[in-house]
Amino acid sequence: MATHLIVLAAGQGSRMQSDLPKVLHRLGGVPLFAHALAAGAALEPERRVLVVGHGGEQVRKAAAKLDPGITIAEQAEQLGTAHAVAQARAALAGAEGTAFILYGDTPFVRPETLERLAEARAAGHHVVVSGFTPADPARYGRLVMDGDALERIVEFKDATEAERAIGYCNGGIMAVDAARLFDLVDAIGNDNAAGEYYLTDIVEIARARGLSATAVTMDEAETLGINTRAELSRAEALFQAQARAAALENGVTLVAPETVFFAQDTMIGRDAVIEPNVVFGPGVTVESGATIRAFCHLEGCHVGGGAEVGPFARLRPGAELSNDVKIGNFVEIKNSEILDGAKVNHLSYVGDATVGEKANLGAGTVTCNYDGVFKHRTQIGAHAFIGSSTMLVAPVKVGAHAMTGSGTVVTSDVPDGDLAIGRARQVNKPGLARRMMDRLKAMKAARQKETT
Ligand code: UD1
Ligand code: CA
Repeated sequence: MATHLIVLAAGQGSRMQSDLPKVLHRLGGVPLFAHALAAGAALEPERRVLVVGHGGEQVRKAAAKLDPGITIAEQAEQLGTAHAVAQARAALAGAEGTAFILYGDTPFVRPETLERLAEARAAGHHVVVSGFTPADPARYGRLVMDGDALERIVEFKDATEAERAIGYCNGGIMAVDAARLFDLVDAIGNDNAAGEYYLTDIVEIARARGLSATAVTMDEAETLGINTRAELSRAEALFQAQARAAALENGVTLVAPETVFFAQDTMIGRDAVIEPNVVFGPGVTVESGATIRAFCHLEGCHVGGGAEVGPFARLRPGAELSNDVKIGNFVEIKNSEILDGAKVNHLSYVGDATVGEKANLGAGTVTCNYDGVFKHRTQIGAHAFIGSSTMLVAPVKVGAHAMTGSGTVVTSDVPDGDLAIGRARQVNKPGLARRMMDRLKAMKAARQKETT
């Protein structure tokens, strides 16, 4: 059965006290709404719709970056969850199968739960709702069940005392027959305590039309929504705890798990070793057997098998490290390919460069890639040996098996196998150091005498 995804993200999130739309706040290094999309991705949805309202343009940009195939639907005024879903009508025109509705501010929904909703849909139910039994039912919508059949959902504000006593609540996720969704949503009114178009009314309407509705139980932890900065920080702690546990489970060694921070999309291979105090920003893949030593920051990069990075290294977006590469302390790599077995061990900046196989960059090598306006590339050939403190003024090319002398400023290409030396020749002045020192000391003594 085809599936489609609608993620509701139009709410203002005023309790965040922020100029940034709520769903753009980051959890696990990615915007909040990306978590719902990632959970939904397991269903391989054909059409994906994000309903945006506040800060629509910003959210649109962030969404297009994450998922170029996503459609943005605008909800100019937030008149309720049913009204939000109605904005997805054009994007889902003619869609069949199942439409899943998720909230953009509810990041912990598990793909397994969505699969179980899909199964209930496949079993013939037209509307499937996620139910949970919270420790404190508080203000959640209550699920009125008749055996396995869901009769209706009543929002807390509209519920009678007897209905408020129901412990089984609406977790917020729905899976609805896509071909019927907008017909049902059109029938929803706003004659209720909040004056909102409640998506939850869809159940009663479907049942009145002879359609079938049921609930599938999820864990309370999955329903955790973010409304405040305090909730966001608690969610981050929870996300990190889950990510660390998953890494350990997958055969990654974490020497001090509580000091390692992952992003939502971090991928680490078996038998990789992550030392303490490492931060993974979004878009990082680390292959099997690599070691990330203490105090590294990685973002948008790839670390090949057997590579060793750090301590104190920074890999920025576009850093592509092949197998067995060594990146040492206080080294920054940006938008560069470092090929098999190459070494950049100390105090270097490599940006917009290709470093060939088994090349060795000495301490303090800098690719001078930026002229203030344009960025230029540096190419270093296989087995090249770059002397310490070489400045490579890009665009420039150092050939295979070529060398540069320490302190060289390389401004023109170095052919394969050549040695480039570009620095002033050294001159020794016999005895001058001692004579100069004696003169300076004598000057100092004379001045001290004057002031006393
Ligand atoms: C909703 C459910 C409630 C359920 C609870 C679970 C309804 C009417 N109620 O209540 O039964 O127990 O979730 O957390 O659906 N949104 C829009 N546009 C709108 C309104 C909301 O995009 O016009 C988005 C919000 O940004 C949010 C989500 O929909 O991501 C849920 O809205 P919210 O107002 O938080 O619903 P609840 O009152 O929590
Ligand atoms: Ca809510």
